[in-house]
Amino acid sequence: MSTASGTPWPASAVRDDDGALVVGGVTAPALAAEHGTPAYVLDEGEFRARARAYQGAFTDAFAAIGAGVDVYYAGKALLTVAVARWAREEGLRVDTASGGELAVALRAGVPGAELGLHGNNKSDAELQAALDNGVGRIIVDSLGEIDRLADLAEARGVVAPVMVRVTTGVHAGGHEFISTAHEDQKFGLSVNAGPDGGDSPAVLALLRILARPSLKLLGIHSHIGSQILDSAGFGEAARTVLRLRAHLGVRTGVLVDEVDLGGGYGIAYLPQDQEIDPRKVAHEVAQAVAHACQELGTAVPRISIEPGRAIVGPAGITVYTVGTVKPVLVTADDNSTFTRLYVSVDGGMSDNIRPALYGAAYHAEIANRRSEAPLALVRVVGKHCESGDIVVHELMLPGDVQPGDLLAVAATGAYGRSMASNYNLLTRPPVVAVHDGASRVLLRRETVDDLLALDLG
Ligand code: LLP
Repeated sequence: MSTASGTPWPASAVRDDDGALVVGGVTAPALAAEHGTPAYVLDEGEFRARARAYQGAFTDAFAAIGAGVDVYYAGKALLTVAVARWAREEGLRVDTASGGELAVALRAGVPGAELGLHGNNKSDAELQAALDNGVGRIIVDSLGEIDRLADLAEARGVVAPVMVRVTTGVHAGGHEFISTAHEDQKFGLSVNAGPDGGDSPAVLALLRILARPSLKLLGIHSHIGSQILDSAGFGEAARTVLRLRAHLGVRTGVLVDEVDLGGGYGIAYLPQDQEIDPRKVAHEVAQAVAHACQELGTAVPRISIEPGRAIVGPAGITVYTVGTVKPVLVTADDNSTFTRLYVSVDGGMSDNIRPALYGAAYHAEIANRRSEAPLALVRVVGKHCESGDIVVHELMLPGDVQPGDLLAVAATGAYGRSMASNYNLLTRPPVVAVHDGASRVLLRRETVDDLLALDLG
């Protein structure tokens, strides 16, 4: 097990004398014995180290151009009370995207002022909760929301702090980013002119906010995509947002103080992947911001970012128990045949929907022992009633993998538990934190009684 950065495992991952996987000082067999499987295992030290790495990289890079930075942990990737506390203890704020995420962050003791609330379709109840808890920034996503929020704030006699989510035409993900004139998706307000060639939806939103005394315009927000491994898109989006900011400044005399560049920093899922380097991307974005502001003749704004996956993704693994192992003779396109070993685990698409939803690739290893057996071509599948219930599409594993073995899948910390379901009425696995040789349950395993309690008959 390599611990070099760029592998998908937490830096603490090693093998003990029996060849068992150890994370955060706790062996996979010990975790399975104490907490059962499947279980999400979260390395607290890795989470904290990553939070510090992003905080440090962006703070340093922007200090060099005279700007302050706030790092918001994007709770949608995984949010529990303990996780929100870790983020806060490492100096991060928390970005929420629903009333539920907001409630968990508040329960963790994160002050409202350090929270953001996102959403393209926030309910009145969510907006009210944000106002009542003094949420520091409500990122508005439509003209209608601006009116609703202004009315709610006015009725309460408060001033709501808002940012406008804009779409810059930069879409990024993987190694590519493309600029498009039109954005065919539900988020944000475009910076491009409307069909009549008049003001863009983004400008209309900004003007509408300035016209409402119950709203305070903090700044402009842009999020360009997720799992981005090429840093160029971030600078490109920053330039577009800064142009919009300067335009508003000339037009209204209001040069907003803040620009949020969203999340999306990509991680390694496979051993050959190289994650984005926070120091490199922070430096490049800071330089792009500095140059753009110089060209535009505007002061450099305070910058915020919202990494989710890059903080929690590599800190999490999933430990499963192997059940059915079935060799299947497969006929290839050229009519040759080969054997694929189907290895079924005790979870599947209900605890990790990403392979089925995005075709996401993962890496897995036998976690309870060492094996010198020749490698076999394996597909790791779950226990759901669906042939697309795949955990790892293609993998070489020791051919003696057998029922009762533990299998650990790497880099499942982000968007695993947070997108988990009860399909086939499976109970969602626990989230178990490991640190310094000890484990503790952050979210307990659901039980069949939990499921029955929801069903009113
Ligand atoms: N900020 C905003 C406004 C976002 O919409 C997102 C993600 C983030 C921050 C955090 O992005 P991150 O740093 O985690 O990439 N379920 C998908 C990812 C959806 C991300 C949606 N927005 C997945 O499993 O890959």
